[in-house]
Amino acid sequence: MSSNPWSLVPAAEYESHMGPQGADQLAPLSAILGKALATLRPARLLVLGVATGNGLEHVNPAVTSRVVGVDVNLQYLGLCRQRQMRLGSRLELYCAEAEKVLLDAGAFDLCYAGLFFEHADPARLAGRIASWLVPGGALLTVLQLPGAGGAAAVPSRHASIQAVAERMHLVAPAALVKELGKAKLALRRAYELPVAHGRRFHVALFQKPK
Ligand SMILES: C[S@@+](CC[C@H](N)C(=O)[O-])C[C@H]1O[C@@H](n2cnc3c(N)ncnc32)[C@H](O)[C@@H]1O
Repeated sequence: MSSNPWSLVPAAEYESHMGPQGADQLAPLSAILGKALATLRPARLLVLGVATGNGLEHVNPAVTSRVVGVDVNLQYLGLCRQRQMRLGSRLELYCAEAEKVLLDAGAFDLCYAGLFFEHADPARLAGRIASWLVPGGALLTVLQLPGAGGAAAVPSRHASIQAVAERMHLVAPAALVKELGKAKLALRRAYELPVAHGRRFHVALFQKPK
């Protein structure tokens, strides 16, 4: 079993925290992925920290023929599989740490990391992600910006969520640009998105050289 505290957060608590009764961030995260899928039309998609598959409802199997999701929480992956049965063998799910998972080089057109680098060090992943992308491939990131008073996470009533929130590290957009730049992933565009509870997301698209 993974020693990552995320592997112990029950799906019901995760979704209650992230859903409309909690931080209310599932809907904007899904919309961000949906918009990227519609504009970039990747044939092969990699999702780091795929959780229960939020956003995969936007995958059009006629466009995207392979979706690989990686997460340390096996329960999330079970739910993701159940909810995306329509994708059949197009969907591959790996219960693993992104820092260790074995994926083929040059196998993906788009990698999505939504609220992921708060929990996994970009310095350890930049080179791996760059290697997994095809030349010209893209990385879409969503970072949580600090709340009022610099708070990292929206408070939760669930002890399991509090445990991961305590280990969460907000990543400054400029620091992410620097780390990804070391792996030759260049910033193409970025914007900020206001979300519930006065919070903001930083959404950015990076590209591997062609
Ligand atoms: C905040 S959630 C991601 C939100 C997701 N994009 C969504 O829309 O629901 C972070 C996810 O990353 C997973 N995770 C955390 N550290 C990880 C790691 N090192 N490798 C793979 N998955 C990890 C957690 O289990 C969790 O599902």
